[in-house]
Amino acid sequence: MQLLDGKFVSEKIKQDIAAEAAEFLTSSGRKPHLVAILVGNDGGSETYVASKMKNCEKVGFQSSLIRYDNSVTEAELLAKVEEINNDTGVDGLIVQLPLPKHIDPEKVTEKIDYRKDVDGFHPVNLGRMMRNLPCFIPATPYGIMLMLQAYGIDTAGKHCVVVGRSNIVGSPMSILMGRNANPGNCTVTLTHSKTINLKEMCLQADILIAAIGRKNYITADMVKPGAIVIDVGMNRETSATTKSGYKLYGDVDFEHVAPIASWITPVPGGVGLMTIVGLLKNTLASAKGEIYA
Ligand code: GUN
Repeated sequence: MQLLDGKFVSEKIKQDIAAEAAEFLTSSGRKPHLVAILVGNDGGSETYVASKMKNCEKVGFQSSLIRYDNSVTEAELLAKVEEINNDTGVDGLIVQLPLPKHIDPEKVTEKIDYRKDVDGFHPVNLGRMMRNLPCFIPATPYGIMLMLQAYGIDTAGKHCVVVGRSNIVGSPMSILMGRNANPGNCTVTLTHSKTINLKEMCLQADILIAAIGRKNYITADMVKPGAIVIDVGMNRETSATTKSGYKLYGDVDFEHVAPIASWITPVPGGVGLMTIVGLLKNTLASAKGEIYA
C-alpha cells in the first residue's frame, strides 16, 4: 500500500500558488481576495473556515471572514451576498454550509455571482462543468483530481465507484471521473443510500471514492485487493485524548482497508487538505480572469 499524502501534495501546490499570487500582486498591485461567510457556531464549519482563511494568508491572498449568528435572516444574508457580488475588490465568495434551517441554501447558492463562485456550487458552474467549458470546479472533487494527477495515477478505462451523491462531492466527482480527460476516462458507478448491492458494487471498483459521511462505513470486505481508495469522510467525534477535543474519522476503515489497497488517502492528512488547494486555485484563477474575463 502507498499513501496518497495530502500534506505533501498540498504543500507543494501551495508553493506554486504562492509564487503565482506574488506575481499577481506585482502586476496588479493587489492580492487575490477570498471572502467567506460563516453563519452560526457549528464546530466543524468553524474549523474548516478558519483553515481556509489561514491558508489564504499563507499563500499571500487577502481573506475576509464575515460572521453571523444563527438568527440572521435569509434576506440579510442575501443582501450581504449581493453587496459582495458588487465589490470589485473581491475575487471569490463562499458561504459555508450547512446553513440554519430557516435559510434556503439553494437561494444563497444561486445568489452568489457565478463569476465569484469559487466553491463551484452555482448551477452555471455545474452546468459548464457538464459541458467541459471553463468553470470553477467544486473544491473537493477538484482537489481529488489534483491528487490523482500529482501521483501520476492512470485512471483511463478503470471502473470508478463513487459512494454518495451529494451536490458538493459525489455528483460532481462522478462527472469528472467520467470525462474524456486525464484524470478521467473512467467507467463510473454512482452509488447512494438506496443502492441495494453496495458491497458488490464496491468490490468491482478499481477506484473507490467514499463520500458518504459515515465513520468507517467502507470495510475491508467491500474493497477489491489492489484498489485505489479515496476517503472524503470528515466525521468529527469528541475525544478526551486530543488537544482540540475532537478526532476526525474517515468513511473508510483505514486500518483494515489500507493493507489491501494499492493507494489510499489517510484521514486526516488526505482529501481535506486538497479541498483547500482546490479553493485556493479557483480563487487565484478568478483573480487572474482565467475562467471568466
Ligand atoms: N461544507 C462542506 N464542504 C463545504 C465546501 O466545500 N464549501 C462550503 N461552502 N461549505 C461546505
